[in-house]
Amino acid sequence: MVQLRLPKNSRVGKGKIWDKPKAADGTPAKKLTEFRVYRYDPDSPDNPRVDTYFVDRDQTAPMVLDGLIWIKNNIDPTLTFRRSCREGICGSCAMNIDGGNSLACTKGMDEVKGDVVNVYPLPHLEVVKDLVCDLTNFYAQHASIDPFLRTESAQPVAEWKQSPEERAKLDGLYECILCACCSASCPSYWWNGDKYLGPAALLQSYRWLADSRDEAKGERLDDLEDPFKLYRCHTIMNCANTCPKGLNPAEAIGEIKKMMVERTI
Ligand code: SF4
Ligand code: SF4
Ligand code: FES
Repeated sequence: MVQLRLPKNSRVGKGKIWDKPKAADGTPAKKLTEFRVYRYDPDSPDNPRVDTYFVDRDQTAPMVLDGLIWIKNNIDPTLTFRRSCREGICGSCAMNIDGGNSLACTKGMDEVKGDVVNVYPLPHLEVVKDLVCDLTNFYAQHASIDPFLRTESAQPVAEWKQSPEERAKLDGLYECILCACCSASCPSYWWNGDKYLGPAALLQSYRWLADSRDEAKGERLDDLEDPFKLYRCHTIMNCANTCPKGLNPAEAIGEIKKMMVERTI
């Protein structure tokens, strides 16, 4: 039988088990949560590994990001991850937690099933270091859909007007924070991420297609008329299930496909 195994230099090894911390008064900490965190150092010839840390819950706030920050500040300053807003707005702390893509700042340590918080980088993206992925292609794909209002009419004296009903059509779209959780959970994107735009860029694309003020719908649809950019979505729905903002990229992709059909009728 064919044995499918990762190449030797990609196998994840057992890492270091760091000492359990002391409580603030110097006695052994009583309320500990175990974290197992993926570590990869591009400057080391060693394989990636998973380190084990113990977080003193009496000294931390409740979110997974709080635990990671506590580890970095108190145990291991080399642990590398992105974060900024710590309130689910910037999208930078997206990672794979407990087997699902999520924002570390909005995922509670107590929401994790079992006793261990397993933390990995977003899957199927190149890892820069530890939990930081390379999002160059992801951002380039977002830029490629022209994520701004395109108009041809003369510039209005004040603002481009929109009725409340027209504005309501953007609900469920404009809230996207470009965290990449959805694209990194999409099997079609895993296999064809260089050509398929993926759920995040396509949801953003529909956000402009659905905007009553935009005057470039034809060109936008022309740009998507390609065997890969749009049509690699097979409605597997991982994107909608994982989005930490509760959005539904699969539905947006369905709407774009509908627009494609309607313009040919
Ligand atoms: S649709 Fe959701 S999961 Fe995807 S990038 Fe936007 S906020 Fe993140
Ligand atoms: S519904 Fe489409 S975009 Fe979403 S995970 Fe499935 S294939 Fe990917
Ligand atoms: S730190 Fe900004 S979304 Fe988590």
